[in-house]
Amino acid sequence: MEIRHLTSDDLDAVLDIRRRAFGPLSGSAPDTWRRLVSPMLPEGRYLGAFDGPRLIGAARINPYVQWWHGRPLSMGGVAGVTVSPEDRGRGVGRALTHAAVERCAQLGHAVSALYPATTPLYRNAGYEHAGVLQRVTVPAEALRTLGGPAAPVKLRRMGPADAAELVALIGRVHSATRASGPLCFDERTWRLWLDDDDDFCYLAEDGFVVYRWSEGNIEVDNLLAGSEATARALWSMVGTASTVADSVTACADPADPVLWMLRERSKDEVAQTRWMFRLIDLPAAVAGRGFPAAVSVETVVEVTDPLRPGNAGAWLLRVDGGSGSVTRLGDAPGGTAGLAAAGGAATRLAIGGMSALFAGVPTATLRRAGLLAGGSPEADDALDAAFRCAPYMIDYF
Ligand SMILES: CC(C)(COP(=O)(O)OP(=O)(O)OC[C@H]1O[C@@H](n2cnc3c(N)ncnc32)[C@H](O)[C@@H]1OP(=O)(O)O)[C@@H](O)C(=O)NCCC(=O)NCCS
Repeated sequence: MEIRHLTSDDLDAVLDIRRRAFGPLSGSAPDTWRRLVSPMLPEGRYLGAFDGPRLIGAARINPYVQWWHGRPLSMGGVAGVTVSPEDRGRGVGRALTHAAVERCAQLGHAVSALYPATTPLYRNAGYEHAGVLQRVTVPAEALRTLGGPAAPVKLRRMGPADAAELVALIGRVHSATRASGPLCFDERTWRLWLDDDDDFCYLAEDGFVVYRWSEGNIEVDNLLAGSEATARALWSMVGTASTVADSVTACADPADPVLWMLRERSKDEVAQTRWMFRLIDLPAAVAGRGFPAAVSVETVVEVTDPLRPGNAGAWLLRVDGGSGSVTRLGDAPGGTAGLAAAGGAATRLAIGGMSALFAGVPTATLRRAGLLAGGSPEADDALDAAFRCAPYMIDYF
């Protein structure tokens, strides 16, 4: 078996495997898929596994930015992992997943995330469960009435030409809200999504919405608001569909402010999809992540990573003033003094556990799941204080 970058000549074969794996793409979907993936081919973002001339598997790495405590990190979104049915069960998926991790590193992604259809394949490659994509369903009428007498917020229709403005806006809001988990597509991908006639896209100065009809009700694909006034304006506009639609289902942060604006909220109707996360470049990811400004931490973590030895070893983790760093223990000023300062015993994690910790999974969970060992209760408290967050995504990929 050989793994190499796919070219446009391979796309028919990829579509064939995709159909066998995920079901048929109907209507204009194959065309949209080609428009989405074609620019990624020359960038080496689509890997194919070949048995001679025959394509037997594929995996794609989407170019994303993902916010961690309000700071953007370059993220490789692994998608479309597929092996043809007759070639499954003999290591092709594993080889492709490992190759995708390596390719993420070559492409300069500090972190990677994916929506798993199965856990073991990705856990073996160092990914661990990290965050949620949550769909919440609320009565359309409850949203309609959220608009108030407050000064009206100007909303305008947006299209492909607004992609750059939208990307900048998303960055501003995630940064200001110190968001963890949400991603942003690149401008090229936004131009494609904003060109769909069946999606209704509106832009405000500090927010936007993309929504559509779905089986007689409304589906909010994306809604982000940087202020109460904009949140009320966008959600209440969506809610004006209430004469026709009973409910609105929205992909939203589980802590989206709209849930605190609803007049009635007795039980939430939610569905969750989980995503997995992996650190590709530990030092770059820690240096690029935001941390709570009030937290000051110095502790030692010992990481194993068979696929990416550059992440492995004993690291002195420092968090201070909203930023963090890891320094190899031998290289840290004071050398092993850092270890002594941390109480003598390093906290030990495989890369999956370290990735989950980075994504805010509590040490008490990791310890009892067998994903974290060593250290001390004080070190656990310090790590929890540094990395605590409840990461979410709004976009499925
Ligand atoms: C999932 C898929 C990519 C796996 O490919 P594959 O070549 O059969 O996988 P491998 O033989 O390399 O197995 C790799 C690991 O995944 C596990 N695995 C494979 N298929 C699995 C399944 N259906 N359910 C649970 N685990 C599975 C294997 O047990 C193996 O684990 P191990 O390393 O602990 O032994 C393939 O079955 C497929 O294309 N399925 C349909 C599309 C899909 O679900 N893609 C994933 C989208 S996120």
